[in-house]
Amino acid sequence: MCSQKDMLKTRMPVNPIFNPDGNDDTLHRTIWFGETTNLMQLNDVRYSWAVGLYKQMRQNFWIPEKLDITQDVTDYVNLTPDERRAFDGILSYLTFLDSVQTCNIPHLKSSVTAPEVSLCMAEQISQEGMHNQSYQYMIETIIPTDRRSNVYDFWRTDKVLRDRCKFIAGLYQDYIDHPTSENYFTALVADYLLEGLYFYNGFCFFYNLASRMLMPGSADIFKMINRDELSHVRLYQKMIPEAMQTFTHSKDRIYEMFDNAVRHECLWTNHIVGDNILGITAASTEQYTKYLANTRLRAIGLEPLYDETLKSPYTHLERFSDTKSEGHTKANFFEAQVTSYMMSSGVSGWDEI
Ligand SMILES: [Fe+2]
Ligand SMILES: [Fe+2]
Repeated sequence: MCSQKDMLKTRMPVNPIFNPDGNDDTLHRTIWFGETTNLMQLNDVRYSWAVGLYKQMRQNFWIPEKLDITQDVTDYVNLTPDERRAFDGILSYLTFLDSVQTCNIPHLKSSVTAPEVSLCMAEQISQEGMHNQSYQYMIETIIPTDRRSNVYDFWRTDKVLRDRCKFIAGLYQDYIDHPTSENYFTALVADYLLEGLYFYNGFCFFYNLASRMLMPGSADIFKMINRDELSHVRLYQKMIPEAMQTFTHSKDRIYEMFDNAVRHECLWTNHIVGDNILGITAASTEQYTKYLANTRLRAIGLEPLYDETLKSPYTHLERFSDTKSEGHTKANFFEAQVTSYMMSSGVSGWDEI
C-alpha cells in the first residue's frame, strides 16, 4: 500500500500514443489513471457532459477578422493617456494568459485517460491559440505602428506584469519540472484560476469603454473571447470536483491558492487600471474579484472565501458581455444534443467562407 506521502509523489502517468491492450469500457473509464487505448470512440462515452460541451465549444466558432474594429482606430487616439496605457497593458497581459495556456494545456491533457474529456482540451488549446491571433489583429489594426512593440514587450518592461507572469507560469512549470500527482492537481487548480478569475477585470475594462461608446469593435472581440473562456471554466468545473475525488489534496491549499490569486489580480488591476478610469475603482475591482472567487469556489463545491453577500459591481456591463443572452455558452450544454445554433449578430459574412 502506498502511504499518502508516497501518493503525492507519484509520477503522473503519460498516455502512450496507442495502447492496443487498453480498456475503453465506460465502466472502467476514468479521467485520470485509466487505461485508454487512446481511440476516440465517441458513440460510447462515460462523461457525456464532455461531448455536449465539445459541441458547444465548436458552435462558438468565430473569426476575429470578421469583426469590424475600424471605429476603434479613431477612438484609440481619443482615449485618455491612462485609458490607452490600460488598453495596451491589458492586451499584453491577456496575450500572456492565452500564450501560456496554449503551451500548458497539452501537458495536462497528456495524462487524461477519458478521450471525450481530452477532446474538449484539444478544442480549448485551439481556441487559446486563436485568441492570441485575435490580439495580434487588434494590436496591428488599432495601435499605431510606433507603439506596437511596446505592447508586445510590455511584460518585459513592466515589473508588476513580469512578476505576475512569472508567478502564473511558475505553478505550471513546477509540474513540468516535478511531474508528481500533487503538482498535477495544483496545476489544474491554477488552470481554473486562470480561466475563471484572471481574464475578467480585463473584460470589464473593455465593456466599460463600450458602455461609454468607446472601442466598440474591441468589446465585440472580447465578448467572443469571454464566451470561449466561460466554456473553459465549465470544463474545469467538471474536472476539478472529479480530481478532488481522485487526487490526495488539501482544501486549505485550494483556499490559499484562491486567496493568493485574488490578491495578485487586484494588485495587477490596480496597477494597470487603478482609480484613473471612469467607471472602475480600486474598491470595485476588489469587490468584483472577491465576488468572482466566491462564485468559482461554490461551483466546485467549496465554501465562499469572502463575504457571501458580495455582488458584482458591474452588472450594468452584462449587456456588453453577451453572457446572459442566447448566444452565450448555454446552461444546457450538458445535453449531448445541439439544440440551437446562435452566432452573435456582430459576426457577418459567413456565406463568403
Ligand atoms: Fe483564451
Ligand atoms: Fe481559456
